[in-house]
Amino acid sequence: MQAIVLVGGEGTRLRPLTYGTPKPMVPIMNVPFLERTLVRIQDAGITHAILPAGYLPEAISSYFGDGSRLGMRLTYVIEETPLGTAGAIKNVEQYIDGPFFVFNGDVLTGLDLRGMMQFHAAKGGVGSLHLITVEDPSSFGAVVHDADGRISAFVEKPQGPPPSHDVNAGTYLLEPAVLAAIPGGRNVSIERETFPELIARGEKLYAYVTDDYWIDLGRPEHYLDAHRHLFEGAIPLELPLGRDLIAGPGSAQPPGTLVAPVFIGEGVTVEEGACVGPYVVLGNGCRIASGARVVDSLLWEDVYVGPDARIEWAIVASRAQIGAGAYVRPKSVIGHDVMILDGSQLPEGSRVVAEGVTTG
Ligand code: GDD
Ligand code: MG
Repeated sequence: MQAIVLVGGEGTRLRPLTYGTPKPMVPIMNVPFLERTLVRIQDAGITHAILPAGYLPEAISSYFGDGSRLGMRLTYVIEETPLGTAGAIKNVEQYIDGPFFVFNGDVLTGLDLRGMMQFHAAKGGVGSLHLITVEDPSSFGAVVHDADGRISAFVEKPQGPPPSHDVNAGTYLLEPAVLAAIPGGRNVSIERETFPELIARGEKLYAYVTDDYWIDLGRPEHYLDAHRHLFEGAIPLELPLGRDLIAGPGSAQPPGTLVAPVFIGEGVTVEEGACVGPYVVLGNGCRIASGARVVDSLLWEDVYVGPDARIEWAIVASRAQIGAGAYVRPKSVIGHDVMILDGSQLPEGSRVVAEGVTTG
């Protein structure tokens, strides 16, 4: 059995983070998000994953290589121009030899894949779609189905009154017959074209609705939320997470103050008089100078935070430098290599790409 993980999106809503890092490589507790998905796939006994990519693909392939470190085989298929969610699947048809999984590459969930396989076998449709129930379906694919699970409508990003609050959670188990329904050689959306067409033809698609933890990491605030949820144990990772945590792999207790929960990478320095936490992740090589305060934030690798700087509910990409006494206010996102000058005051929701910012 094969698993296709769609990793070709540009991650526009996560900019400027995704200017330097493709969305699947965005770290969750310091490990690329895609690794979590691949480990789940491998745990379900699937050892061949196909990765249709296109945006910064080398960042993915140079990290995962042939997949042997994870005990699996990885096949990268690069799209010259984006083929869309169904076009990307059609484009890797030659690797598929039976029923196959498809994953949106930006979803973090506790879904039990083996349970979904049993469901799919029992229903006998051409496809089973994992759904979750949400209050506001407007940014998802709304799926109408009956009590038996049979799907009668799929409406991507519904405008106006939603036809259903059960939405596409981005994991499908499909039969090869679905491949035949996708035209080759052009951009095709599985949500806007393929699913509606299969339904119109009377093909059987089934809804697998669960209440597992689920989050789409495509927006900065969701990405931050996901870490809070992980610290609180929403989905069991192989990491010793928890509200009391003030550590991480290979980290030593620094001289500065850590307020749990905090997860720190290797080679991190928190100077005496600095205070980090709660709900902070520091990537490898981060350095927090005396008097600095970091709360509710995600700092990627080798970030430097100068003396008396303050960072709250923000995301700072690798190698950025936050000057002495600067204030990074909530919902801000600082791009790779950005230098925030001493004393800069960043308003809430700043997106910083250029160097040398001093606002307000
Ligand atoms: N290879 C490839 N090529 N991958 C692509 C392409 C493409 O042209 N376009 C998008 N992808 C990948 C993205 O990288 C992402 O992993 C996945 O397909 C879904 O694309 P998004 O851009 O994240 O879509 P969305 O979040 O707006 O909506 C989708 O996900 C929702 C759940 O999170 C839809 O599937 C919705 O129906 C669904 O509810
Ligand atoms: Mg998405």
